[in-house]
Amino acid sequence: MKAIVMTRAGGPDVLEFVEQETPSPGPGEVLVEVAVAGVNFMDIGARRGMAWTAAADPKVLGVEGAGRVIAVGAQVDDFRPGQRVAWVYAPGSYAQRVIVPADALVATPDGMDDRTAAAVMMQGLTASHFATDFYPVQPDNVALVHAAAGGLGLLLTQIIKLRGGTVIGRVSSADKVAIAKRAGADHVIVDATGDFAAEVLRLTNGEGVNVVYDGSGPTTFQGSLDSLRVSGTLCWYGPVLGGPGSLDIMSLPKSIKLGYAVFADHVRTPERLRSRSAQLFEWIRDGQLKVAIGGVYPLAQAARAHADMESRLTTGKLLLIP
Ligand SMILES: NC(=O)c1ccc[n+]([C@@H]2O[C@H](COP(=O)([O-])OP(=O)(O)OC[C@H]3O[C@@H](n4cnc5c(N)ncnc54)[C@H](OP(=O)(O)O)[C@@H]3O)[C@@H](O)[C@H]2O)c1
Repeated sequence: MKAIVMTRAGGPDVLEFVEQETPSPGPGEVLVEVAVAGVNFMDIGARRGMAWTAAADPKVLGVEGAGRVIAVGAQVDDFRPGQRVAWVYAPGSYAQRVIVPADALVATPDGMDDRTAAAVMMQGLTASHFATDFYPVQPDNVALVHAAAGGLGLLLTQIIKLRGGTVIGRVSSADKVAIAKRAGADHVIVDATGDFAAEVLRLTNGEGVNVVYDGSGPTTFQGSLDSLRVSGTLCWYGPVLGGPGSLDIMSLPKSIKLGYAVFADHVRTPERLRSRSAQLFEWIRDGQLKVAIGGVYPLAQAARAHADMESRLTTGKLLLIP
């Protein structure tokens, strides 16, 4: 089978398209034919050497996708060959075939295409974690969503709107404004330098927002604090783009609450993974949640997909087709 591997950390050029042996499923595992693999920033983190450093080389990148079951290992009762499935957190997904722990699989509903199912696993579950668990958005709340035209930002915006909130989106360039607005953002601020808080305060009559969702790196951190109202919540989530460094807890203003949200906590059991993804699939089926696919690349061009994502020019979800 073909796969995208890396044998050293670095830029997109470390990714190689190679022939590999198809693995066999062990107990509790499922071998899947990958129809679509999702590209996530965490793959870029792994490629840069910020994660998975203990895993043996060559490492096959990717953690997300959708496809069809080829074979199941011992002790797998819930899945059978031929079944359509989607998954999140199965290292090795940038390949024609991947071993997925059965606990990380969900059945793809009839009528849902593989691209949509793959596109919503990581970013959709992350968005639902942020807006329903980490800070459950209330109907009168105002939220600031960074990178609002990205794959995660577009889904998060829609889920906040489904819960009755108001969204102020922040994007880095003017051409992304219409895309964020199409997802439901009430206001969109264009800024790539961290200079957005004054506009957030103007839009909220000086009060600030109830919650900021910020995974955009150190540049936005201070502006995000400044954009909050008293007792507001800062949901910080971006390990790959970088954190604010060490913080004196007494420097935090306005009795705000600050935390690092991790999607894995939202789906920490197979039951939760299946119920949370079923909710996303229902919203999609009912037309309440739209999945924007911003780029589809042949698997062999994974390096180009990474470079495009890092360029800040893409919007929506990027996918690879093996
Ligand atoms: N904690 C968790 O559980 C979790 C889960 C998934 C993802 N994440 C994090 O969420 C963030 C988004 O990841 P994603 O995979 O979901 O992709 P994504 O939402 O599609 O992110 C792409 C967006 O990131 C922004 N961006 C790209 N390069 C940037 C840079 N160098 N500096 C600042 N912003 C940049 C761009 O928005 P603008 O140019 O418009 O700002 C772009 O639209 C990443 O930080 C990732 O680590 C965290």
